[in-house]
Amino acid sequence: MPQRVADTVSDYLLHHNSNTEGAFATSEETDEIIEGARRALGDFLGADWQTVAFGTNMTTLTIFMAQSLARDWEPGDEVVVTALDHEANRGPWLDLRERGLVVREAPVDLTTCTLQWDELEGLVNERTKLLAIGYASNAVGTVNDVKRAADLAHRVGALCWVDAVHYALHGLIDVQNIDCDFLVCSPYKFFGTHIGVLYSKPSAAAAVRPLRLLTQDEDPPFRYETGTLCHEGIAGAAEAVEFIADLGRHHHAEGAALDRRAAVVAGMRAMEAYERPLAARLIEGLAAVPGVRIYGPPANAARTSTVSFTLEGRHAHDVAEVLGAHGLFVWDGDFYAARFVQLAGLATRGGLVRVGLCPYSTADEVERVIAVVAELAQVHGHGSAIGDRSGPR
Ligand SMILES: Cc1ncc(COP(=O)(O)O)c(C=O)c1O
Repeated sequence: MPQRVADTVSDYLLHHNSNTEGAFATSEETDEIIEGARRALGDFLGADWQTVAFGTNMTTLTIFMAQSLARDWEPGDEVVVTALDHEANRGPWLDLRERGLVVREAPVDLTTCTLQWDELEGLVNERTKLLAIGYASNAVGTVNDVKRAADLAHRVGALCWVDAVHYALHGLIDVQNIDCDFLVCSPYKFFGTHIGVLYSKPSAAAAVRPLRLLTQDEDPPFRYETGTLCHEGIAGAAEAVEFIADLGRHHHAEGAALDRRAAVVAGMRAMEAYERPLAARLIEGLAAVPGVRIYGPPANAARTSTVSFTLEGRHAHDVAEVLGAHGLFVWDGDFYAARFVQLAGLATRGGLVRVGLCPYSTADEVERVIAVVAELAQVHGHGSAIGDRSGPR
């Protein structure tokens, strides 16, 4: 987290901390800070501030909205989810089966780690109420064509719900261009705080009857916000957007003249441009290590800089542990993209090792990851195991 984001959180708590809509200074400041944050996150998403709601995290917002939307759906109505998604964009919809809804699952091509679009198209029909899709896979980095998904849903009068949690750090979001009905993301993934953000298209928002209290404001975006929000987190999330915008201004020839949205666009482009060659080198280096299998989209397909792999004969956790001991912090397991990991046959082998690159990752770190994995592969190749949990478990 950038210092300025932490400072903003601290400043809010120490100097403006209050509940909203009071007739005194700190409450008025809080109202201003929250509205300012809606504008900042609006600029992050390419959206109007009145379409931006805050919540606890993406998962909680999705559960809340799934339950709210389903109030007006009938048994036999259908929802489509994908096999590539994080459980946070599957579970809340799968739960609706308890209300008699039919949930269909779009399959994933395990060789290319991409969605099977032909199959997906076949699942969407006139009973479909909503298509839930991830913008990018947090397990293997595949970027999905969410605009195509929104078109597909709209063709049958269904809504399109986009989980942009993984994508948000790695690529520019433009909700107008995607034309999705809802999009959720979590600022803690992009230099910010632990809150959730929900964009809702006005026409879609008008059609929802969210679970709410009598005391709650009827209008979007307030109608999705239950109880007191995490004000300091909201303040910090706005500052994270300012940080990205300043990064953009720094990297753009006419940076000083850019408004915040244009600066965010430049910032995201700068981060993408920085991460892309690092990811290419990581993929190339790891692919050359005997026993490594990379799970991700083909070279010409859209992807984030997140690179996942397995090392033959090694439990993913062991690989992560060895890398961790070298100061290289990587994740292992299914990262809650449990369905994909299960279908890939990796659930009993510890899942994947996932190297998540970001704008502060360095070329040196990438080389060190490759070198440590190569060394591990060599040790394994010679028959002696590193760590006491090698092999499948
Ligand atoms: C793709 C994806 N979706 C959803 C989530 C869940 O987000 P949250 O922690 O805000 O509930 C994550 C978290 O890692 C994620 O990577």
